[in-house]
Amino acid sequence: MEDRSEDRIVSAQRQVEDDPQVELGLRPRSLKEYIGQEKIKEKMSIYIRAALERNEPLDHVLLYGPPGLGKTTLAHIIAWELGVNIRVTAGPAIERPGDLAAILTNLGHGDVLFIDEIHRLNRSVEEILYPAMEDNALDIVIGKGPGARTLRLELPPFTLIGATVRAGLLTSPLRDRFGVVDRLDFYNPEELEEIIVRSAGILNMETEQEGAAIIARASRGTPRVANRLLKRVRDFAQVKADNIITAAVAKEALQMLQLDRMGLDEIDRRLLLALVEKFEGGPVGLDTLAACISEEPETLEDIYEPYLMQLGLLKRTARGRVATSEVYSYLDLSPGGGDAQQRLW
Ligand code: ADE
Repeated sequence: MEDRSEDRIVSAQRQVEDDPQVELGLRPRSLKEYIGQEKIKEKMSIYIRAALERNEPLDHVLLYGPPGLGKTTLAHIIAWELGVNIRVTAGPAIERPGDLAAILTNLGHGDVLFIDEIHRLNRSVEEILYPAMEDNALDIVIGKGPGARTLRLELPPFTLIGATVRAGLLTSPLRDRFGVVDRLDFYNPEELEEIIVRSAGILNMETEQEGAAIIARASRGTPRVANRLLKRVRDFAQVKADNIITAAVAKEALQMLQLDRMGLDEIDRRLLLALVEKFEGGPVGLDTLAACISEEPETLEDIYEPYLMQLGLLKRTARGRVATSEVYSYLDLSPGGGDAQQRLW
């Protein structure tokens, strides 16, 4: 089945234009510059200070939560605050145990190894990680069959930072080896507004407060989406408003992108409409609902649903997905209700 979720302007998944090279100027470098996630920042700054004072590497950290909330950014910041190098890779990129062994043996003392999508490591690679995380050891098997021996190599102490959308996707032996496990939450509109004003400043743009607020509300609680929308609004501002992001410019740009003021797009609306019209508001099973909008169940679960639940439009129950009463007023299913996207502005 074709996965279209990544092409959406409001997709929280990384796209080419979000490439770290392009995004780099927008990314905060230190905890002080990082806006939002206050609880995690507070905890991390204590752990980092304690590790620095003890002259020990930081404990292994697992960051989980919806995409686009800053897990990779946070890993870079942690390395920067610790004053160590970071090696960045991703679960699917490490195909064989030897690939991981090569990465591990090249780490410097106290370095950070960041593995994105860590739940996608294959089992034989994951098993190399266990002794590495626990004993700073690399176990190499020499030979095959009854004569096989294990050779243990010592590794420099290091900090593994793993990222995933849901902690439950990890096997329990892997999850248990992280000393720090933290969930990143959606950002509130005020935090997103602050991020937008900061990013706009870096891009040499002026923002009127209501302009930034409009983009913030449509950003689905996600800085990556906020920065992407900002870049699109910038084009409008440049051509139509002397580089100033006014409320009118922000609104016009978002309407052109067919987003409503909460950042919901056509696919979201189709999903909600299917739930209401085909299944009388549910409960309906995940697989059935996914098939209705031609998406994979996992995509629905990890990409679409979290924000709809955050908005209070959708609930997950033991018997399936259920539309809340909010959906009916959102879609305005009363006779003559009209087009939700238009009406919602
Ligand atoms: N840009 C993207 N995410 C950010 C954050 N959390 N704080 C500041 N700038 C950001």
